[in-house]
Amino acid sequence: MKTFLMCKPGYFEVSYVINPWMAGNQGRVNKRLAAQQWENLYDVLSRKALIRLIEPVKGLPDMVFTANGGLVCRDHEVIVSSFRHPQRQAESPYFSKFFEDSGYRVMRLGGDIKFEGAGDALYDSNGQVWVGYGHRSDVEAINEIAALFHAPVNGLHLVDPRWYHLDTAFCPLEHGCAIAYAKAFSPHSVNKIKNAFGDRIIWVADEDASNFACNAVNIGHDIILNKASDELKTALNKNNFNVIEVDVSEFIKAGGACKCLTLEL
Ligand code: ARG
Repeated sequence: MKTFLMCKPGYFEVSYVINPWMAGNQGRVNKRLAAQQWENLYDVLSRKALIRLIEPVKGLPDMVFTANGGLVCRDHEVIVSSFRHPQRQAESPYFSKFFEDSGYRVMRLGGDIKFEGAGDALYDSNGQVWVGYGHRSDVEAINEIAALFHAPVNGLHLVDPRWYHLDTAFCPLEHGCAIAYAKAFSPHSVNKIKNAFGDRIIWVADEDASNFACNAVNIGHDIILNKASDELKTALNKNNFNVIEVDVSEFIKAGGACKCLTLEL
């Protein structure tokens, strides 16, 4: 059974702007609705996976997006994030402490290399690692992660500020499938995805991308996401996947959705 780390939205709010989705949304989160939406996601996920919780911290509104806490490797090892923006940097010690207390070997990338964890690093079903760079994580993170993993890492260049983390525009699925939004990537990176996934890649349309359909949690045949068009649902059904929509509109005001609210342990 998969295990995910989540963080209750106790102090969730949009109180600064570090991505285009947050612009105009400062102080605009409906906190009761956010709490309800988070509980709905928790309920859906806890029927299919184990959930562990990290305590929210006052003054760290984005800590709810646990995907950015770090990247978990096999055998209880984790690379804890080095956040790009000062507004999120104070989260790292709390994630480190969580992992240390849970018996993980805690690592960090060297020097001043920025890396935002599972928000920018995704495993495909063959165990290959894909790292997004260009906005939050540095391109130098790729070689560092490859060295730590003793395995090749595929870099993907993110070119549009709206798709600032890899998990906003790309989601490897089971059985060698994936969903992705082409406009988020450089032409070279689009080709890399095409070459790796062949006819098992589903390219999403603008509307699905804007609804954070690529920010999905895949558990077996189920794909949990904010919202998908009929077209995308049909394409996923054809590949034997079942879509479960969980409305997380309040979190989209901060630029995150279902996948960002989880970190696979
Ligand atoms: N407001 C947060 C930020 O800009 C949202 C993070 C979303 N997380 C993710 N894994 N895409 O950092």
